[in-house]
Amino acid sequence: MNIENLLSDRIKSTPPSFVRGILKAASDPSVISFAGGLPNPISFPQEEMLESMERIVKTYGSTVFQYSITAGLPELRQYIADRYNKKFGLNLGVDNIIITTGSQQALDLIAQVLLNKDDGVIVEKPTYLAAIQAFSLTQPTFYTVELTEEGLNLEQLEEALQHHPKFIYTIPNFQNPTGLTYSVENRKQVCEIMKKYDTILVEDDPYGELRFDDQQFPYIGMGKLPGSIVLGSFSKTVTPGMRIGFIISENTELLRYISTAKEAVDLHTNIFSQYLIWDYLTHNDFDAHIAKIKKLYKAQAQAMVEAMKKYFPDTVKYTIPEGGMFLWVTLPEGISAMSLFPKALEKHIAFVPGDPFFIDAKDSNTMRLNYTNADPETIEDGIRRLGELLKNM
Ligand SMILES: Cc1ncc(COP(=O)(O)O)c(C=O)c1O
Repeated sequence: MNIENLLSDRIKSTPPSFVRGILKAASDPSVISFAGGLPNPISFPQEEMLESMERIVKTYGSTVFQYSITAGLPELRQYIADRYNKKFGLNLGVDNIIITTGSQQALDLIAQVLLNKDDGVIVEKPTYLAAIQAFSLTQPTFYTVELTEEGLNLEQLEEALQHHPKFIYTIPNFQNPTGLTYSVENRKQVCEIMKKYDTILVEDDPYGELRFDDQQFPYIGMGKLPGSIVLGSFSKTVTPGMRIGFIISENTELLRYISTAKEAVDLHTNIFSQYLIWDYLTHNDFDAHIAKIKKLYKAQAQAMVEAMKKYFPDTVKYTIPEGGMFLWVTLPEGISAMSLFPKALEKHIAFVPGDPFFIDAKDSNTMRLNYTNADPETIEDGIRRLGELLKNM
């Protein structure tokens, strides 16, 4: 049987995940991997989760094993609404939240609900590669807007909006892959521009809680734009394996369509996980837990930046993250990070070359480095080895 002949155009035009491919190569324990996007496992609250597990089975019995409602556990949705109301001065209720199977599922649902084949979608340049993957399944036309130290390039944004795209996908805090954060001014300007267009604004924010200092940046659209969606996740603050993410929108009409799409996909997100996360959140000091993760990642980010200052040639540039899990390296023009990758692997170092984060880049001189999954000494060792390789090129 020739499977190729049976495949849909959708799957043929969807790229396989480059990261998942290279993670296999990087899983050799002798490799120092800056490639994955894994939270540090020492941040998982295992003891507390064990207590929650016992408590929810004893308290709620068969309910935690039964089918449940599509939009998600009301108590967990209320917790999320309360938290965002308090932090951002919003007025959200249970009906403004849908629990999803990771925020990754939210990306798929949004694409299913909004995009027909060839419809326009705006993404940052570069952007989260699994968002490109999720959207590609609906065969849209991508328009890209460059990301600068300030945020979106506003001229390019206006230009891209002339194509009447259905939505724009942004990651304003500690962006994956660049680690960049939109300034408050850029957020205001993007909001003013978006007011003129009937285009949904998606702010994907899995890293927002992980800001190294105590500043708080406002969302671009929430509370200001009628077609505004914020995506959140407990993957980086509790555990990713539970697969609990959420969609927030004040537009309940849009959420009803998203809920219908979710019914068709998985009926509902794992209800045991939902109870578990909710019980954990309501029986522990979540903010104190987040503070510990921030402290850990800040030290790791600093170790990476310090090592880069010490070991990288001056011609190599990099972003300084204010939070989150990644930074972005730009090599001198003409040096392909993709061709550097096998050489680095020989020296037992892994990273993600920039190409898969662009819609159509080849041999980009950029790479993404993750700093959350190695201790500061290992980070220094890995950056030293990478620096030697770069100096020899
Ligand atoms: C920008 C962005 N969006 C979404 C996700 C998916 O996260 P989740 O585990 O909530 O599905 C990630 C994970 O790395 C991410 O970086």
